[in-house]
Amino acid sequence: MANSRGDRLSVKARALAAGLAAGLAALAAATVAAEEFPSKAVTIVVPFAPGPTDTVARIVARSMSASLGQPVLVENRPSVGGIVAPEAVKNSRPDGYTILIHHIGMATIPILYRKLRFDPLTDFEYIGLINEVPMTLVGSEKLPPNDVKELIRYVREHKDKVTFAHAGVGAASHLCGLLFMSFVEADVMSVPYKGTGPAMNDLLGGQVDLLCDQTISTTSQIRSGKVKVYGVTTLRRVASLPEIRTLDEQGLTNFDVAVWQALYAPKGTPRSVVRRLSSALQAAVRDPQVIHRFAELGATTYPPEMATPDALEVRLRSEIARWRPIIDKTGIYAD
Ligand code: MLT
Repeated sequence: MANSRGDRLSVKARALAAGLAAGLAALAAATVAAEEFPSKAVTIVVPFAPGPTDTVARIVARSMSASLGQPVLVENRPSVGGIVAPEAVKNSRPDGYTILIHHIGMATIPILYRKLRFDPLTDFEYIGLINEVPMTLVGSEKLPPNDVKELIRYVREHKDKVTFAHAGVGAASHLCGLLFMSFVEADVMSVPYKGTGPAMNDLLGGQVDLLCDQTISTTSQIRSGKVKVYGVTTLRRVASLPEIRTLDEQGLTNFDVAVWQALYAPKGTPRSVVRRLSSALQAAVRDPQVIHRFAELGATTYPPEMATPDALEVRLRSEIARWRPIIDKTGIYAD
């Protein structure tokens, strides 16, 4: 009797010890992997087709690659609204080799989509903020209005005919378009794309009329006169396009949308790996070439203290709080 109880205890004890040993071995392996990080290429997943967010990813990737000592690749997982890439990154191995770039959409998507398969606040580790980019409202060369006053009149008179291109519900271009429509109190036909890159191609071809996009993409088109520009979407003018007036200056009082970009890793990525990625991002935002390139494209690079997990979490929470009442007021949801 005593023996059989003792045997039962020792079976339990052995199982416990084996479980503990396996747990410790896994922890040790993860720690070694984290200490060796990165031992191969890191991939930044972009939620849109080649366009402005993709450009930001590529500029940052090149600099991060120099400090990580490994290639940093860029992979596009485009979808309308940019909702597929975050889910893909959420479900990838939390080892730091697959990370996500996303923008203001991480704050607006959870409000616009009431059924979403990821939660920006609980499914990711934050790496840090990258930059802030104003947008510009641009139109096809063929569109008759030449300034905002004329545009507002034209849109109100032709709302059944005017088309507004954007990258889907949740995209920055969609948010900016929504805001414009609510300012002018008109609803035009909206045309979704998997990124503003393809939307811009159709605007240049005259297939769509209006687009609100990051200066990263619009600067060269504005400078070469291939699009009509109606205004900058932030309260301040853009240093790289000083002659372009803001929409606020032109009577759309307090029209203010800027795109901020950031990097995320899947939840559970070891702390030391997140720290390594974050310090590579901090080196990138200090890199004079990165700062210069972003400035040429109208973007402001954040200082290194904002390229941190804490700063990103604060920004994400405050932006969700800012946009929730605005979006709820429009009553427009994706689902
Ligand atoms: C893009 O990179 O295609 C745009 O930033 C998408 C958007 O408008 O949010």
